[in-house]
Amino acid sequence: MKSSSNPSYRIVAIGGEGIGTEVVEASLKVLQLVAKLEGFTLQINYGWLGKTALEQFGSYFPQATVELCNGSDGIVFGAVTQGGLLELRKYYDFFCNLRPIRIVDSLLHKSSLRAEKVQGLDILVIRELVSGIYFGPAGRSSDEKGAYGYHTMLYYDEEIRRIARQALEKAQQRRGLLTVAHKENALPHLPWTRLVQEEALRFPDVVVEPMLVDNLAMQMVLNPQRFDVILASNLFGDILSDIGGALVGSVGLLGSASLNSDGFGLYEAVHGTAPDIAGKGIANPLGTLAACVLMLQQWGELGAAQRIMAAQERVLAKGYRTADLSPQGAEILVNTEKLVDLLLEELSSEKHSKYKELYESIK
Ligand code: NAI
Ligand code: MG
Repeated sequence: MKSSSNPSYRIVAIGGEGIGTEVVEASLKVLQLVAKLEGFTLQINYGWLGKTALEQFGSYFPQATVELCNGSDGIVFGAVTQGGLLELRKYYDFFCNLRPIRIVDSLLHKSSLRAEKVQGLDILVIRELVSGIYFGPAGRSSDEKGAYGYHTMLYYDEEIRRIARQALEKAQQRRGLLTVAHKENALPHLPWTRLVQEEALRFPDVVVEPMLVDNLAMQMVLNPQRFDVILASNLFGDILSDIGGALVGSVGLLGSASLNSDGFGLYEAVHGTAPDIAGKGIANPLGTLAACVLMLQQWGELGAAQRIMAAQERVLAKGYRTADLSPQGAEILVNTEKLVDLLLEELSSEKHSKYKELYESIK
């Protein structure tokens, strides 16, 4: 938390494309109210990335966006279809991608698994975000056998070690189990197990459990409650974390934080631009909101984070659902705007009820 009694934060909001802009706008409304309630100031600048940036500035990741982001307290991002995002992540060295997968009680029956399989589910996927196959030597070429393409999964040992240290620290603060996704039977030159175990010598209270990534994917579906922290490379983490969407009921619920070593971060939902529902105003904003909660926690604004999570739980417990959660029976279908209104109402009434209690107690 910033030291002054009325801290001020500056964020850069980048909607991007498709539902990206819709869910970012929705989340900002909630953030602004919570800032008022908690007594901190929020300044918002709008930045550009991807196709819209290309149209306006001739670059997927324009200098104008860099200038806005420099010195800010966080970037809240929607989604893009092409270009810009990998560059942004690389530019600020956002190597540590945190993707919590937590079940909300009132959505237990929305999981693809039976409720008893996901009750209490609380996994933190940590994905390495600025190296590996998305950044290794790549190209297309041809030889006597014809045209071919290649992407190279290249990791410096130190890149694995630094994300391992982050994961070990998180595991230490949680339940002490760190599962490491690897594929060393086929990719022996990427020794995730050994490197993580060497780093773990300084974390004697954390159990390191290496697991072949294909088996890990299966175990996440068969027995997800057994996991605490899962550490994965860029590619494996990308794929595994979408399983989380099926576990909790919708990919639209999942948020993520991508941090660099200074604690500066990019906050975004796990999902993409969802072209099938873009422009209809029906996207679930709770994934981006979950990312904003991670931002507040990163700032040390724990009260604000708690307020949002509690308001969200109450709205969901009352049965309100966006379309991706397939409302049934007594559940009530709402669009993005209505869900945000409900969240704002919950947040404001929480304030009143608190004052009411206070009033009752001093009366
Ligand atoms: P997607 O996550 O956009 O959509 C997958 C499915 O989930 C769709 O049926 C969509 O309607 C639904 N969905 C996703 N988010 C939702 C939400 N908040 N509320 C309700 N329903 C939601 O993944 P897809 O279709 O594979 O990718 C679409 C585009 O997004 C592609 O161009 C892809 O490259 C891009 N993408 C961008 C990302 C980013 O900018 N971080 C991440 C993932 C994909
Ligand atoms: Mg993905």
